[in-house]
Amino acid sequence: MKTPKEFLWGGATADFQFDGGCQEDGRGLSTHDFETDGSVEHPRCITYRMPDGSIGLARSSFFNPESLPDGAEPCLDAQYYYPSHKAVDHYHHWKEDLRLLAEMGCNVYRFSICWSRIFPTGEETEPNQAGLDFYDALIDEMIRLGMEPLITIHHDELPVYLAEHYDGWSSRHTIDCYLRYCKVLFSRYGSKCRYWLTFNEINAVRGFAACGTHKCDNQTHYNAVHNMFLASAQAVKLGHEMMPGSMFGAMYASSAIYPATCKPEDVFCHMQQRRETYYFIDTMARGQYPSYAADLLRRRDVTLHTQPGDDEILAAGALDFISFSYYRSNVISTETRVNVISGDPNPYLESTPWGWPVDPIGLRYVLNEFYDRYQKPLFIVENGLGAVDTIEADGSIQDDYRISFLRDHLREMMKAMCQDGVELLGYTMWAPIDLVSLSTGEMKKRYGWIYVDMDDKGNGTLERRKKKSYDWMHQVIATQGESLWAQD
Ligand code: BG6
Repeated sequence: MKTPKEFLWGGATADFQFDGGCQEDGRGLSTHDFETDGSVEHPRCITYRMPDGSIGLARSSFFNPESLPDGAEPCLDAQYYYPSHKAVDHYHHWKEDLRLLAEMGCNVYRFSICWSRIFPTGEETEPNQAGLDFYDALIDEMIRLGMEPLITIHHDELPVYLAEHYDGWSSRHTIDCYLRYCKVLFSRYGSKCRYWLTFNEINAVRGFAACGTHKCDNQTHYNAVHNMFLASAQAVKLGHEMMPGSMFGAMYASSAIYPATCKPEDVFCHMQQRRETYYFIDTMARGQYPSYAADLLRRRDVTLHTQPGDDEILAAGALDFISFSYYRSNVISTETRVNVISGDPNPYLESTPWGWPVDPIGLRYVLNEFYDRYQKPLFIVENGLGAVDTIEADGSIQDDYRISFLRDHLREMMKAMCQDGVELLGYTMWAPIDLVSLSTGEMKKRYGWIYVDMDDKGNGTLERRKKKSYDWMHQVIATQGESLWAQD
């Protein structure tokens, strides 16, 4: 089994986890800039100021649908560490980082553009020139090195000004701001960049980044998502007009979802749970809400504030390809009390140190399921293992656990392509170079083929060092996946 020559192999990052340079060159503050570090035991928080001046902490925007208390304004406070401010300083290491990826054989690099680097508050009419200059140089260099840019326009964050003043995606005003931002990107980079993702993990954007400082209850959340759907569809249409031949995806946080038993109640419940997450990508992929949407919204007591013309907007901006992250599978039964992102334990699978079940066959399963469902090309834009890496006395990093995770997943990916007939554009591993964990804010949850010398509090030299998996992956790419079958 071999991947076709045009198959895209590479890595994926997001600016607030990777870039840093938070207050440089006119960049405005972004929603993730207010998130503290954390761990599994001590979840990340957003710092905020109450009207009486006191500083408080609210559970991180990413997972906490409650977001900030009423009357609170996000604020920074010197006693806390905010990992996004420096991240791993790609902002000053980008040449070295791109060179390392190119040397490894990558022919694609997925990265996110920071909206507030282009429009610091989101509301300006003219973009920030220094922000554009940064991405000009980055994109030109990756193309020079033979890497196709894959751009995420919105990776779980927005200028904090829009979150504070318009409650983020709760307001249709944010759609206008987003389209102004897209227009600048398309006219600036359209001749160089073919692949675009309108939103990252659309089914997981919640809290601060979705609803701003408004409580992100179901009513607010589903309406904010409706606005994101409209924004995505209009961006796709605009992109197609401005950049003939461009391809648009939107990213979906996938997992293989299994029923806990063959009890019909469990199987039915599992089907409904799958729809809870399919709701998001079905709408964007098909350009219309799925038939089950009305029932899903009714059960949540949600009324969508649609306007005349919304259906036509959605229909005109269906996605060209389906991209998704895959890290794990989940088990669902009528007894499951947690949401589908967590699910019940699966006794047949081992878990990572962070409790994520490892399920390579689940990747083949979702690839087949998505292709059957949409009949559109697929793109795996995130998959990888977060693990603790140790530097040996000789300076090497022997990450055999990462090699075996990747080998097992990539074999299943190739079976889906070569045996099952799934059309797959590429694979970008999360993340090629160590970066800050989104869920916990830690550095010690490392994903990279390349180690970065930095700890959870931002101490370290930021030196980049190849791990054992770097050379291994180099071989995989050089042989178009054939070497995966030679090793056991
Ligand atoms: C995805 C996100 O949810 O998973 C990334 O798109 C994130 O931003 C990745 O980093 C892995 O999650 P974590 O919490 O281990 O960083």
